[in-house]
Amino acid sequence: MKKLWLVLLALWLLATACHTKESALLDENTAISMQKTECHGTCPVYTIHVNGTGLATLEGKQHLNKIGVYQMQLSPEETEALFAPFIKANLWSFENEYTEEVTDLPTTYLTFTHKGKVKKIKDYSGAPQKLIDLENHLAGLISANAWSKADAAPVLLASNLDIKQRGEYLVTVGGCHDCHSPKVFTPQGPVPDEKRLLSGHPSDMKVASYAPEVIKDWVLFNAHNTAVAGPWGVSFSANITSDDTGIGLWKEEQFIKAMREGKYKGLDNSRPLLPPMPWPNFARMTDEDLKAVFAYLKSTKPIRNVVPAPIVPVQ
Ligand code: HEC
Repeated sequence: MKKLWLVLLALWLLATACHTKESALLDENTAISMQKTECHGTCPVYTIHVNGTGLATLEGKQHLNKIGVYQMQLSPEETEALFAPFIKANLWSFENEYTEEVTDLPTTYLTFTHKGKVKKIKDYSGAPQKLIDLENHLAGLISANAWSKADAAPVLLASNLDIKQRGEYLVTVGGCHDCHSPKVFTPQGPVPDEKRLLSGHPSDMKVASYAPEVIKDWVLFNAHNTAVAGPWGVSFSANITSDDTGIGLWKEEQFIKAMREGKYKGLDNSRPLLPPMPWPNFARMTDEDLKAVFAYLKSTKPIRNVVPAPIVPVQ
């Protein structure tokens, strides 16, 4: 830690010598995250995140000596020394993506949040040296001694993801795929079909026969969890991809109404959403979270699929 402190102090002196004080600019909304992905060899795979209060979180995945979630608290001086070069570099003048025709390299995602703006840069290959220097500057923190193992911090990282990543995270932990994605059947059991993610009950999938008297008292799921028979009849999970047959034409307000008030298509005069869509649970999500989910759904691969209308119970 002592060595790190000295390096950071030197950087800080450098930064403050030719610049006015930066600390006033740092707050808990200021943050840098860097994610390093796998490569064809033994590159370290991790995500590191530092916010303006100096709280650093490292999630080590592979090929580094810290596997799992670690945290450390930087002093105000260290925090300032870490952030100063990022602020000075004017990251907004960089491209969003650097790629070249090479394979098997790791990808670095650098996200910088400052004064309400977010810059995300994907660096695969061919980035300017200035960017690589910043990446190395941040990566230098990993060798510090002050890290201590944390129990449950991935959520902290998630709260600092960009809006679509956060939406994807919420869709995953919210279990949307359980019902909205048709499945492929593996020896380990059914898993969401990558080709049809979130596209709802397939229009060409037959509903198996069921005994009407049974579903007066029981709920039956089909093998894909996309068709569910119960006392309400048979409901089919909706297509929530970005296609026009999904939520592609929806406005954000519609999505929020569907999730908060259980209204079909999120329209005032439409029918209530049927079980088992657990909208009363999702109604408790914050506006920010619902907006993130919607932003993510809007960014999904459009899959054309007109989901059948629900079947009303036989009296
Ligand atoms: C347990 C199963 C289940 C889960 C989990 C689930 N859904 Fe649903 N969802 C359904 C079903 C079934 C419908 C269709 C209900 C109907 O037709 O009335 C539906 C309908 C919807 C609708 C309304 C679509 C329309 O056209 O009006 C939206 C939006 C939606 N789900 C989003 C989500 C999101 C986002 C998640 C995860 C955060 C999620 N659902 C999780 C079963 C589920």
